[in-house]
Amino acid sequence: MSDPIFPKRDPAEPEFWDLRYGARFAPWDAGRVPAQLRDFVARSAAPRRTLVPGCGSAWDVRFLAESGWDVLGIDFSDAALATAAPILGPWAARARHADFFAPIAGEPFEVVYERAFLCALPRRMWTAWSKRVADLTEPGGVLAGFFFFGEGERGPPFALSSRQDLSALLEPAFSRIEDSPGTDSIPVFAGKERWQVWRRHASLPKRSD
Ligand SMILES: C[S@@+](CC[C@H](N)C(=O)[O-])C[C@H]1O[C@@H](n2cnc3c(N)ncnc32)[C@H](O)[C@@H]1O
Repeated sequence: MSDPIFPKRDPAEPEFWDLRYGARFAPWDAGRVPAQLRDFVARSAAPRRTLVPGCGSAWDVRFLAESGWDVLGIDFSDAALATAAPILGPWAARARHADFFAPIAGEPFEVVYERAFLCALPRRMWTAWSKRVADLTEPGGVLAGFFFFGEGERGPPFALSSRQDLSALLEPAFSRIEDSPGTDSIPVFAGKERWQVWRRHASLPKRSD
Protein backbone atom coordinates (compact mmCIF):
# COMPACT_ATOMS: atom_id res chain seq x y z
CA MET A 1 0.00 0.00 0.00
CA SER A 2 1.39 3.45 -0.86
CA ASP A 3 1.82 6.15 1.75
CA PRO A 4 -1.03 8.65 2.07
CA ILE A 5 -0.49 12.10 0.55
CA PHE A 6 -0.75 14.99 3.00
CA PRO A 7 -1.03 18.73 2.38
CA LYS A 8 2.38 20.38 2.59
CA ARG A 9 3.20 21.47 6.12
CA ASP A 10 6.39 22.29 8.02
CA PRO A 11 7.48 19.55 10.51
CA ALA A 12 8.37 22.43 12.85
CA GLU A 13 4.61 23.06 13.19
CA PRO A 14 2.09 20.85 15.03
CA GLU A 15 -0.17 20.64 11.95
CA PHE A 16 2.38 18.39 10.20
CA TRP A 17 2.08 15.84 13.02
CA ASP A 18 -1.67 16.35 13.58
CA LEU A 19 -2.30 15.33 9.96
CA ARG A 20 -0.30 12.13 10.33
CA TYR A 21 -1.52 11.02 13.75
CA GLY A 22 -5.06 12.02 12.69
CA ALA A 23 -4.75 9.65 9.70
CA ARG A 24 -3.19 6.91 11.89
CA PHE A 25 -0.05 7.13 9.75
CA ALA A 26 2.93 6.91 12.10
CA PRO A 27 5.64 4.62 10.66
CA TRP A 28 8.07 5.87 13.35
CA ASP A 29 5.83 4.52 16.12
CA ALA A 30 7.34 1.33 17.58
CA GLY A 31 4.11 0.37 19.32
CA ARG A 32 6.26 -1.12 22.06
CA VAL A 33 9.11 -0.24 24.41
CA PRO A 34 12.67 -0.54 23.03
CA ALA A 35 14.82 -3.18 24.74
CA GLN A 36 17.61 -0.66 25.43
CA LEU A 37 15.23 1.61 27.34
CA ARG A 38 14.10 -1.37 29.46
CA ASP A 39 17.72 -2.18 30.12
CA PHE A 40 18.54 1.45 31.04
CA VAL A 41 15.73 1.44 33.59
CA ALA A 42 16.77 -1.96 34.96
CA ARG A 43 20.35 -0.66 35.42
CA SER A 44 19.31 2.55 37.19
CA ALA A 45 19.84 2.47 40.94
CA ALA A 46 16.65 4.46 41.57
CA PRO A 47 13.74 5.97 39.62
CA ARG A 48 14.66 9.26 37.98
CA ARG A 49 12.69 12.39 37.10
CA THR A 50 12.42 12.17 33.35
CA LEU A 51 11.21 14.28 30.44
CA VAL A 52 10.14 12.68 27.15
CA PRO A 53 10.08 15.44 24.51
CA GLY A 54 7.79 14.80 21.52
CA CYS A 55 6.35 11.74 23.24
CA GLY A 56 3.87 10.89 20.45
CA SER A 57 1.77 7.87 21.38
CA ALA A 58 3.71 7.66 24.67
CA TRP A 59 4.54 3.95 24.97
CA ASP A 60 7.80 4.95 26.64
CA VAL A 61 6.04 7.34 29.03
CA ARG A 62 3.72 4.55 30.11
CA PHE A 63 6.62 2.17 30.65
CA LEU A 64 8.54 4.69 32.75
CA ALA A 65 5.46 5.50 34.83
CA GLU A 66 4.78 1.78 35.37
CA SER A 67 8.40 1.41 36.44
CA GLY A 68 7.81 3.97 39.20
CA TRP A 69 9.63 6.82 37.46
CA ASP A 70 8.42 10.41 37.78
CA VAL A 71 7.96 10.96 34.05
CA LEU A 72 6.47 13.76 31.99
CA GLY A 73 5.85 13.40 28.26
CA ILE A 74 5.25 16.52 26.22
CA ASP A 75 3.99 16.95 22.69
CA PHE A 76 2.67 19.95 20.74
CA SER A 77 0.35 17.84 18.56
CA ASP A 78 -3.17 17.38 19.94
CA ALA A 79 -3.68 14.41 17.62
CA ALA A 80 -0.54 12.75 19.04
CA LEU A 81 -1.85 13.29 22.57
CA ALA A 82 -5.25 11.88 21.57
CA THR A 83 -3.43 8.75 20.33
CA ALA A 84 -1.48 8.59 23.59
CA ALA A 85 -4.50 8.84 25.92
CA PRO A 86 -5.80 5.24 25.59
CA ILE A 87 -2.25 3.88 25.63
CA LEU A 88 -1.50 5.75 28.85
CA GLY A 89 -4.82 4.84 30.49
CA PRO A 90 -4.40 5.63 34.20
CA TRP A 91 -1.16 7.48 33.43
CA ALA A 92 -2.87 9.95 31.04
CA ALA A 93 -1.85 12.97 33.14
CA ARG A 94 1.80 12.10 32.51
CA ALA A 95 1.55 13.44 28.93
CA ARG A 96 0.85 17.10 28.38
CA HIS A 97 0.51 19.58 25.57
CA ALA A 98 3.69 21.68 25.52
CA ASP A 99 6.25 23.03 23.10
CA PHE A 100 9.79 21.78 23.73
CA PHE A 101 11.15 25.28 23.09
CA ALA A 102 8.87 27.00 25.64
CA PRO A 103 9.33 26.86 29.44
CA ILE A 104 8.28 23.51 30.97
CA ALA A 105 7.10 23.34 34.59
CA GLY A 106 9.55 21.35 36.71
CA GLU A 107 12.60 21.77 34.46
CA PRO A 108 15.42 20.78 34.57
CA PHE A 109 15.12 16.97 34.70
CA GLU A 110 17.50 14.19 35.77
CA VAL A 111 16.93 12.37 32.49
CA VAL A 112 15.80 13.58 29.08
CA TYR A 113 14.79 10.61 26.93
CA GLU A 114 15.25 10.89 23.18
CA ARG A 115 13.42 8.78 20.63
CA ALA A 116 12.56 10.09 17.17
CA PHE A 117 12.41 13.67 18.39
CA LEU A 118 15.65 15.23 17.13
CA CYS A 119 15.15 13.53 13.75
CA ALA A 120 11.64 15.00 13.61
CA LEU A 121 13.04 18.55 13.76
CA PRO A 122 14.26 20.27 10.59
CA ARG A 123 18.05 20.71 10.72
CA ARG A 124 17.74 24.51 10.97
CA MET A 125 16.43 23.86 14.52
CA TRP A 126 19.20 21.57 15.72
CA THR A 127 21.37 24.22 17.31
CA ALA A 128 18.35 25.52 19.22
CA TRP A 129 17.55 21.89 20.19
CA SER A 130 21.07 21.38 21.57
CA LYS A 131 20.91 24.53 23.71
CA ARG A 132 17.41 23.71 24.94
CA VAL A 133 18.26 20.09 25.79
CA ALA A 134 21.28 21.30 27.79
CA ASP A 135 19.01 23.62 29.78
CA LEU A 136 16.45 20.85 30.32
CA THR A 137 19.01 18.36 31.71
CA GLU A 138 20.24 19.06 35.22
CA PRO A 139 24.01 19.09 35.86
CA GLY A 140 25.13 15.46 36.31
CA GLY A 141 21.91 14.29 34.63
CA VAL A 142 21.73 12.49 31.30
CA LEU A 143 20.30 12.71 27.82
CA ALA A 144 19.62 9.08 26.91
CA GLY A 145 18.03 7.39 23.95
CA PHE A 146 18.18 6.77 20.24
CA PHE A 147 19.87 8.85 17.56
CA PHE A 148 19.27 8.39 13.84
CA PHE A 149 22.28 8.36 11.48
CA GLY A 150 22.14 8.25 7.71
CA GLU A 151 22.55 10.06 4.45
CA GLY A 152 20.41 12.50 2.51
CA GLU A 153 18.87 15.87 3.16
CA ARG A 154 15.20 14.94 3.12
CA GLY A 155 13.09 14.13 6.13
CA PRO A 156 11.61 13.61 8.54
CA PRO A 157 13.35 11.60 9.71
CA PHE A 158 16.28 14.03 9.36
CA ALA A 159 19.48 12.03 9.79
CA LEU A 160 22.67 12.93 11.58
CA SER A 161 25.47 12.49 9.05
CA SER A 162 28.12 11.24 11.50
CA ARG A 163 29.17 10.71 15.08
CA GLN A 164 30.95 14.10 14.87
CA ASP A 165 27.73 15.76 13.71
CA LEU A 166 26.09 14.86 17.05
CA SER A 167 29.24 15.64 19.03
CA ALA A 168 29.31 19.14 17.56
CA LEU A 169 25.77 19.70 18.85
CA LEU A 170 26.19 18.19 22.30
CA GLU A 171 29.81 18.34 23.37
CA PRO A 172 29.78 21.86 24.69
CA ALA A 173 27.46 20.69 27.46
CA PHE A 174 27.61 16.86 27.53
CA SER A 175 30.05 13.93 27.33
CA ARG A 176 29.05 10.68 25.61
CA ILE A 177 29.18 7.80 28.11
CA GLU A 178 27.37 5.02 26.20
CA ASP A 179 27.17 4.20 22.50
CA SER A 180 25.88 0.98 20.93
CA PRO A 181 23.84 -0.05 17.89
CA GLY A 182 20.05 -0.27 18.25
CA THR A 183 19.15 -3.86 19.03
CA ASP A 184 15.45 -4.07 18.17
CA SER A 185 14.84 -1.17 15.79
CA ILE A 186 11.67 -0.94 13.73
CA PRO A 187 12.11 -0.97 9.90
CA VAL A 188 12.38 2.85 9.41
CA PHE A 189 15.36 3.02 11.76
CA ALA A 190 16.89 -0.46 11.32
CA GLY A 191 20.68 -0.39 11.07
CA LYS A 192 20.67 3.41 11.38
CA GLU A 193 19.99 4.16 15.02
CA ARG A 194 22.30 4.04 17.99
CA TRP A 195 21.57 3.99 21.69
CA GLN A 196 23.62 6.72 23.35
CA VAL A 197 23.80 8.25 26.81
CA TRP A 198 25.27 11.72 27.29
CA ARG A 199 26.14 13.08 30.73
CA ARG A 200 25.50 16.78 31.32
CA HIS A 201 28.55 18.64 32.63
CA ALA A 202 28.25 20.38 35.95
CA SER A 203 28.96 23.76 34.38
CA LEU A 204 28.61 25.04 30.84
CA PRO A 205 31.25 26.80 28.79
CA LYS A 206 30.32 30.41 28.10
CA ARG A 207 28.10 30.75 25.04
CA SER A 208 29.21 33.06 22.27
CA ASP A 209 25.62 34.16 21.38
C1 LIG B 1 8.49 11.29 14.89
S1 LIG B 1 7.39 11.64 16.20
C2 LIG B 1 8.07 10.64 17.51
C3 LIG B 1 7.07 10.35 18.60
C4 LIG B 1 7.60 9.44 19.70
N1 LIG B 1 8.77 9.98 20.35
C5 LIG B 1 7.90 8.07 19.20
O1 LIG B 1 9.04 7.59 19.38
O2 LIG B 1 7.00 7.43 18.63
C6 LIG B 1 7.89 13.30 16.69
C7 LIG B 1 6.96 13.91 17.72
O3 LIG B 1 7.52 15.14 18.16
C8 LIG B 1 6.47 16.09 18.32
N2 LIG B 1 7.08 17.43 18.24
C9 LIG B 1 7.77 17.97 17.21
N3 LIG B 1 8.21 19.21 17.52
C10 LIG B 1 7.79 19.44 18.79
C11 LIG B 1 7.95 20.54 19.69
N4 LIG B 1 8.60 21.67 19.33
N5 LIG B 1 7.42 20.45 20.92
C12 LIG B 1 6.76 19.33 21.31
N6 LIG B 1 6.56 18.26 20.49
C13 LIG B 1 7.07 18.32 19.25
C14 LIG B 1 5.51 15.75 17.19
O4 LIG B 1 4.22 16.26 17.41
C15 LIG B 1 5.56 14.23 17.18
O5 LIG B 1 4.60 13.66 18.03
